[in-house]
Amino acid sequence: MVKPASDSSTASAQVSPAGIWAIAIVFAALAGLLFANPWPYQRPYAGAGLVPEWATDTATVRSPKLKPEVTVAGYTYPCSACHKLFPSPSETDRALTQHGEISLEHGINNRCFNCHSRTSRDAFADHRGAAIPYDQPQLLCAKCHGLVFRDWTHGVHGRTNGYWDASRGPLDRQKCIRCHDPHAPAFAAMRPAPGPNTLRMGDTQPDTTHHPAVENPLLIHKQPAESVDPKPGEGH
Ligand code: HEC
Ligand code: HEC
Ligand code: HEC
Ligand code: HEC
Repeated sequence: MVKPASDSSTASAQVSPAGIWAIAIVFAALAGLLFANPWPYQRPYAGAGLVPEWATDTATVRSPKLKPEVTVAGYTYPCSACHKLFPSPSETDRALTQHGEISLEHGINNRCFNCHSRTSRDAFADHRGAAIPYDQPQLLCAKCHGLVFRDWTHGVHGRTNGYWDASRGPLDRQKCIRCHDPHAPAFAAMRPAPGPNTLRMGDTQPDTTHHPAVENPLLIHKQPAESVDPKPGEGH
């Protein structure tokens, strides 16, 4: 059974006007405090820095002209201009009097005619000696670097500029010799681009004095050498 509400109980629950003012003032003070924001929020992680421009530069390191021409003493000649005048010997690992600027550092691939056609100097040569056009050097590389060439055709090796969306423009797959010097193809050591800086990976420069990063597998390279297990066969 519900008790009938009595007048006396409602009267005793009433708050005096002074009390209402006091509550209002407390709320107003709180609102003012929150508005003034005396303890601003501080992100526990370093802010994501901008990726430096040199790291996103799409230009390749070389820009060969893909024409069988060479400039000697200020004049530009087609290769055949000289080479049709004299027959070439069958082997060439001798020191040359011409083209002294070329020093071949391509490992055991150390013969000019592995690449240049002996009979037509304006072209390269495939395994059977047939001509590969001078502006298609990737087909030359393909005869010995088949796997890398396959990767390159699929866009896995090298780089592709231009557009994925064919309606906006063509793809521009960069030819091998835009990156590799065919006579000395190894790359000099490169400066790596800075690593990603995402919240999930945590601070990539953690302050290890307060929170040791030892448990974080992503930061294993920051750990002191003693805490990393030695590689197999490298025990102390
Ligand atoms: C100004 C004349 C001249 C031009 C132009 C020229 N060469 Fe030569 N090249 C020579 C001479 C001379 C030799 C032989 C040097 C020796 O035997 O000491 C030679 C040698 C070579 C050899 C070594 C094999 C051989 O035939 O003896 C290669 C490979 C070669 N040239 C490639 C080229 C290519 C590729 C071009 C064009 C990009 C070119 N040359 C343009 C004069 C020229
Ligand atoms: C006649 C075969 C042949 C052709 C053609 C050829 N290569 Fe090579 N290349 C080799 C061999 C063999 C090696 C391994 C050399 C060694 O380590 O002794 C090599 C090594 C390389 C390397 C690794 C170099 C290093 O030391 O890291 C690169 C890069 C390369 N070639 C690029 C090219 C490019 C680009 C072309 C086309 C312009 C090309 N190669 C054409 C045979 C060839
Ligand atoms: C791995 C294949 C390869 C070998 C081996 C090779 N060349 Fe080349 N050579 C090329 C390619 C590809 C080019 C076109 C490069 C360019 O345009 O940057 C070229 C260009 C040249 C040029 C034109 C000038 C220049 O630097 O672009 C000359 C001259 C030349 N080669 C001479 C030689 C001589 C001489 C030898 C032997 C000592 C030789 N090459 C060995 C692939 C080769
Ligand atoms: C956008 C630049 C670029 C282009 C284009 C490119 N490469 Fe490379 N290539 C590289 C770099 C970077 C490396 C790694 C070099 C290193 O590790 O020292 C490499 C490595 C290589 C190697 C040695 C390592 C391996 O995987 O065997 C070969 C061989 C090679 N490239 C051949 C080619 C051939 C052939 C082409 C064309 C079909 C080509 N590259 C096109 C940049 C390029």
